[in-house]
Formats: sequence, structure tokens, C-alpha cells
Amino acid sequence: MSEQVDVVIIGAGAAGLFCAAQAGQAGCSVVVLDNGKKPGRKILMSGGGRCNFTNMYAEPAAYLSNNPHFCKSALARYTQWDFIELVNRHGIPYHEKALGQLFCDNSAEEIVDLLLKECDDGNVRLRMRSEILAVEGNDEGFLIKLAGAEIQAKSLVVASGGLSMPGLGATPFGYKIAEQFGLPVLPTRAGLVPFTLHKPLLEVLQTLSGIAAPVTIATEGGMSFKESLLFTHRGLSGPAVLQLSSYWQPGESVSINLFPELNIDDFLNAERESHPNQSLKNTLAKHLPKRLVECLQTLGKVPELTLKQLSATQQQQLIDTLQQWQIQPNGTEGYRTAEVTLGGVDTKALSSKTMESSQVPGLYFIGEVMDVTGWLGGYNFQWAWSSAWACAQAV
Ligand code: FDA
Repeated sequence: MSEQVDVVIIGAGAAGLFCAAQAGQAGCSVVVLDNGKKPGRKILMSGGGRCNFTNMYAEPAAYLSNNPHFCKSALARYTQWDFIELVNRHGIPYHEKALGQLFCDNSAEEIVDLLLKECDDGNVRLRMRSEILAVEGNDEGFLIKLAGAEIQAKSLVVASGGLSMPGLGATPFGYKIAEQFGLPVLPTRAGLVPFTLHKPLLEVLQTLSGIAAPVTIATEGGMSFKESLLFTHRGLSGPAVLQLSSYWQPGESVSINLFPELNIDDFLNAERESHPNQSLKNTLAKHLPKRLVECLQTLGKVPELTLKQLSATQQQQLIDTLQQWQIQPNGTEGYRTAEVTLGGVDTKALSSKTMESSQVPGLYFIGEVMDVTGWLGGYNFQWAWSSAWACAQAV
């Protein structure tokens, strides 16, 4: 005999736990199945252990999807302010770090505890270390087969996340279930991920490993972010690069403006007036890390001249180079270090109000498994909360 429940949720991550709590509190019997030992493993890792749980400026424009309108309804019905209210209700202290990003003051564990308490209030049963052997559709809904057990559910919610960080339990399970039930899955790729560099450039730039600089970075298509860039021993990282990586296509170059705030022309002219014999290198080092200027010289981007030797044409060339430094990444670090997965279950096959499949009644997809991906800065958790809430109203 199989156990009978209203809702089975696959995945005890951000979306799965939040959906379970809401559905349980609304009176549904809910079981959450997860292949891992601990619930909310990515939450615990997130935001450097402090979980950037939402963003005060969350809005549809901060999400990538083949259908950019899809996320609007859920984000409008369960907003960042709703989740902030929940965090306040649990007495969790938090602060704004930058750009509307809200982080716990203490630990990401507090967000996992919040979700588990909410699940408790809804009498949700969590079955960790569950290996799902098969899922079958039948007249009563879905039969979920586990080793030594079967669960019959009226509704099945797939909240198994994307492919990023396989070390934290990521699997393609959700995509396989979608395909099994005839839903289209869009090609996936790593997002919010560092760039790797081709060897000759890497050999020069890896000496800068650990150095950061504020930049504006842009794709060939004109998408740009003004944040910090970090040089690493593998290539380029930091918020500016992670953000841009979600918009970058293999083979494209990126353009880096190393002086996003300063008028370099005015700066160089003023410096030439007061220190004509100063080297260009020392002049630029007033605004850029010295080792970066040295690397730019090694790469032939900064001539070894004094300010008075620098002609007007050379000055203009230098400005163009420093404001549009073209780098062609070799690729990205891939799912191993990516924060998110772009692509996934095609939203065309889902209701934007409920996250339910239009072809398979009772089958829902929430969170990162679907083709909705947010920017860096709390947007992805907000999508997990909003999509989970929308689904929980319907199951
Ligand atoms: P999530 O991945 O959280 O959960 C999926 C669950 O399904 C996991 O528990 C997994 O074990 C389980 N599962 C997978 N396959 C299964 C199978 N076959 N059987 C059973 N269970 C299975 N976002 C943000 O907004 N702010 C932040 O600070 C960060 N920081 C951050 C840091 C790092 C290191 C990473 C990797 C990611 C972030 N993110 C983030 C992104 C954020 O973590 C992510 O978008 C959400 O966790 C997605 O929530 P989901 O519930 O959809 O998937």
C-alpha cells in the first residue's frame, strides 16, 4: 500500500521548503523529498554564509528568461516586502549591504531555521536522503517510487533546482521529469559565474590574483554592469563579471571601462600641468592598483612615457584603451562554481499564476529549475519565494 498525501515536493531548497510551509499551513498534507542529508544546503552557503535573502529593488527587469513577462505575476503577488515581513516576524536581524541587497547580520542558518519552523507550523514531513526511483502519472495524480516506499500524491511540485554546484546536490532531475511528461526544456548554461582566460593573457593577469577594481563591464550586445571586478588565478570574477556572465555568449568579447567615474582626459591634463615629468605609470596608479598598471604596460596598453612626452593622439588612444579594454574570455568556470543555471523548464508550458503545467494538471515547477534567472544580489531567492508562494496557493 502506498502512502497517500495531497502534495509531494521534490527538493528541500529555498523554493521547496517555502512552498511546503505555505501549502501545509493552508491545510494540505505535504511531504518534501530530498536527496541530501540537510535541507537548504545552498541557503547555508549563500551570501558568504549570511544569505542575501532578497533585494529591495526586485523587479521583473532583473530576471533573464526566454519569456521576460512570465515572472511578473508571481513577483507582484508575493513581493520582497512580504518576505522581509516574514523575516521581521521571526526576529532575524539583517542589513542592506549594497544596492538593496539584504543579508542576515548573523548567519544564513537563521533563514533555514525560519523555513523549517514555518514547515513545522504546516505539519510538513521532510524525508531527507530520499532517492527517487521513478515518478508515474495516474488517475489520482502521481505515484512517487522510493527505495522501499511509494507515495501517492494529488499534486507533484518539482523544486529540484538547477545544475550549479553539483557538490551541493544539484542534479538534472527536474529537467528529466519535465521531459518525461512532455514539457519542453530550454538549453541550460552556467550563470553568475567567473570567466576563464586564454593562456597568454592569463599568464600576465594571474599575477594580479586577489586585486579588485571598480569598473563598468559590457557585452557586445550593450548589456553593462558597474560594480567591482576581481582578478583571480583562473581569470576574472567579482560582482561585475558574475552579473555580465549571464548575458555573455561564448566567443564574444567584453569591454571593460577601468575609469567608470573619472574624466581621464581632464585628470591627465591637470596632472601634466602640475607634474610634467611624472611617468604615465605613476599617474595612472593614483586611480588604479599599481600592479594593474604594470600589467597594462606589459600588455602594451600603457606606453612607457612621461606626461609631457604623451602626445594628444597617444592620450586619446590611451583613454580609448582604458575605457574600452577588450577581453575575449576563454569560457566560464561552468557549473562547478556558478551560482545559478540559465535556461531550464520552458515557462511557455507553465501558468505564470500557479506554476502548473498547462498540459499535465497537478504538475508544478518552481524556483531555479525553470527558465527564470535573476541577477546577483538576492533576486534568485526572491524568485524562489515568489514562485513557491504562487504555487502553494494553487496546490
Ligand atoms: P535549490 O538548489 O536551493 O534546491 C534544490 C533542492 O533539490 C536541493 O536541496 C537538492 O538537494 C534537491 N535535489 C536535487 N536533485 C534531486 C533529486 N534528484 N532528488 C531529490 N532531491 C533533489 N541567490 C540569492 O538570491 N542570494 C544569494 O546570496 C545567493 N548565494 C548563492 C551562493 C551560492 C554558492 C550558490 C550556489 C547559489 C547562490 N544563490 C543565491 C542562488 C540560490 O541559491 C538559488 O537560486 C536558489 O537556491 C534556488 O532555489 P531552489 O529551491 O530552486 O533550488
